[in-house]
Amino acid sequence: MLAKIDEIENEIRSFSIGNNEDLEKFRLSFLSRKSGLSSLFDDLKSVEKSEKPLIGKRLNEVKKLAETKYDGEKLKLETSVKKVKEELDLSIPGRTFSVGREHILIQTLNDFISIFQKIGFSIAEGPEIEDEFYNFDALNTPEYHPVRDIQDTFYIINKFDDTKKYLLRTHTSPIQIRTMLANKPPIRIIAPGKAYRNETVTMKNYFTFYQVEGLYVDKNVSMRDLKGVLSYYVKKYFGAESKTRFRPSFFPFTEPSAELDISCFICKGKGCRTCKNSGWIELGGCGMVDPNVFNAVGYDPEIYSGYAFGLGIERIAMMKYGISDIRMFYQNDVRFLDQF
Ligand code: DAH
Repeated sequence: MLAKIDEIENEIRSFSIGNNEDLEKFRLSFLSRKSGLSSLFDDLKSVEKSEKPLIGKRLNEVKKLAETKYDGEKLKLETSVKKVKEELDLSIPGRTFSVGREHILIQTLNDFISIFQKIGFSIAEGPEIEDEFYNFDALNTPEYHPVRDIQDTFYIINKFDDTKKYLLRTHTSPIQIRTMLANKPPIRIIAPGKAYRNETVTMKNYFTFYQVEGLYVDKNVSMRDLKGVLSYYVKKYFGAESKTRFRPSFFPFTEPSAELDISCFICKGKGCRTCKNSGWIELGGCGMVDPNVFNAVGYDPEIYSGYAFGLGIERIAMMKYGISDIRMFYQNDVRFLDQF
């Protein structure tokens, strides 16, 4: 009988309990009335008197062992369920997963393109690495002009070709030259792309930015056409109530030249921090193509005239969406990008 008790003790010790089902099995096997252990208690009656105390003691020990294990395991199971319940906060909102989208600058650029395509402009492109001929010379920017200074232009060292100075284009205007050299008038293009300048980064300036160049060359093109087309774009994009202003300016490649301002979209022209209380925001430059530019590409300035413009996409997006710091476009913080 003692051997049997030992066997049951071993079973109790090795019984593993991982869930409530195991726990119930354990109870039935060792603690219920029908368990082997209970029947041994019944057998105790028929044991010889001298052996009774020893066997009784062993039986009680093993029963106690089963009870303690049962209570301990039960408590363990209950507390682990409670813990999971506590950690599970059903009131927390579900996790959303974000879907990729076009960058706000690309959206603004595409809106620009689609407005101009509808009025007959086609798209032209050019390389971001240019040489001085396209970026400066052909655009009537003389050797001594300050923009050619190393401080404004990122020059590129080309070990294989030192006959030309290569650079990252400082504007999209060289695409005008490439387009005119490859085509005969009439020309009606817009040329979107990136430009680079060796500038100090501030809230308003970044070392790279998007520009869209515009060029229209034909017979009898006048400043009126230029004002018409840019005002049309501004009203279409910013709303019918927005105003345009053409302020006299200077660019080597246009004569006369103007700066295009639009009424501040944020304060509606009343004056605010963004427009420095002037009520106007500058979007870019424009003007009538300088005869020297036509000469550089072999167009006869006596026959043809044209207008050109170069507008900054960041400026346009900042106005439209009320963004005060240009650097936000390039930091790629999803909390910013997700808003558009
Ligand atoms: N290229 C000039 C700039 O980046 C902008 C510009 C001015 C472009 C007048 C033009 C223009 O086509 O006619 O500042």
